[in-house]
Amino acid sequence: MLKLGVIGTSWICRQFIDAAHETQEYELRAAYSRSIEKGQEFVADFSNVVVFNDLSDFVNDSEIDVIYIASPNSLHFQQAKAAVEAGKNVIVEKPCFSNPTEFKEIFDLAEKHGVFVLEAARHIHDEAFAIVKEFLSNKTILGANLTYAKYSSKMSALLAGELPNKWNPKFSGGILADLGVYLVYWSIGQFGQPQVAKYNAQLLPSGVDVSGVGLLRYDTFDINLFNAGNLNSYLTSEVYTSEGTLVLDSVAGTENATFIKLNGEKEEFTINQIENPLYDEAKAFSNLLNNNDHDKYSLLLTLAKQVNDTLFEMRKTAGIVFDADKQEKI
Ligand SMILES: NC(=O)c1ccc[n+]([C@@H]2O[C@H](COP(=O)([O-])OP(=O)(O)OC[C@H]3O[C@@H](n4cnc5c(N)ncnc54)[C@H](OP(=O)(O)O)[C@@H]3O)[C@@H](O)[C@H]2O)c1
Repeated sequence: MLKLGVIGTSWICRQFIDAAHETQEYELRAAYSRSIEKGQEFVADFSNVVVFNDLSDFVNDSEIDVIYIASPNSLHFQQAKAAVEAGKNVIVEKPCFSNPTEFKEIFDLAEKHGVFVLEAARHIHDEAFAIVKEFLSNKTILGANLTYAKYSSKMSALLAGELPNKWNPKFSGGILADLGVYLVYWSIGQFGQPQVAKYNAQLLPSGVDVSGVGLLRYDTFDINLFNAGNLNSYLTSEVYTSEGTLVLDSVAGTENATFIKLNGEKEEFTINQIENPLYDEAKAFSNLLNNNDHDKYSLLLTLAKQVNDTLFEMRKTAGIVFDADKQEKI
């Protein structure tokens, strides 16, 4: 049983705890919050969970094997660093780190301390992702249009003149870091690292993007990406092949997939629906940790690095600078 500690008291952290418990491979033992009262309220449904408001005491708690981090993006770095230095494995929410400098520092440190750092990109662990990958493996790819655009629950605060973490460069916010990362992860997970990555974005006065259009250029095809947080899109995502078009309701958790051949004939895929979208990743990570699976880790690490590099390139082309970048030249 993996003894789990968590950072963050929002809904995503609760969803991960529930998924982790559902796998029967983890047991929540500790939680970190800036406020003891808030932390205690957050873990009230569970027994034998110690709440900390001191990060150093939390990461050094010998009762924990693995720490799940679900804090604002820019805080992942210092929290993961503290956890790794304390010899703990880390599962860190996407996007794991703000830029390649932070990425390298954490993963070098993880290697030195002999621990795993895993980025929680939930959708690449879904059954649907593997089904699509297998299906496309013998196809000639001609291009793709991928969309993820959803009106954000944090829009009203923004419009009221506040600056929620999600729209704040201090917290490495913006829509590419929030929803776009799913599209980039999916593309690179399916097709590898693009040769060129570009991004045109509508920037908020804070300097981060509220919507944007990206281009990932491969040898023989292009992938167009659209992400937004100020509107809802009902477009599907599509992959074009020489034999027909694969239509997906979403790439960030595919529930429906249909291949429409050039002659119009349709082939529907059967995808088992799961209640908790974090279940598959929680299971994948417990397998990796329990089996000390360095081969799987190496694949995930390569993918995470390619995504981190690509997001950084895209931000550069759109002129998006996070506070975390300011000690390096962007
Ligand atoms: N995989 C997914 O499906 C998914 C979905 C949503 C979010 N996420 C990711 O999860 C992470 C957290 O997102 P979120 O929307 O939950 O973030 P959030 O609500 O802004 O913050 C999460 C937690 O971090 C702490 N926190 C908030 N502001 C802070 C500050 N200024 N300084 C220090 N701590 C602060 C709070 O805990 P305390 O007050 O208890 O300290 C809060 O509960 C992000 O990386 C996001 O991309 C992933």
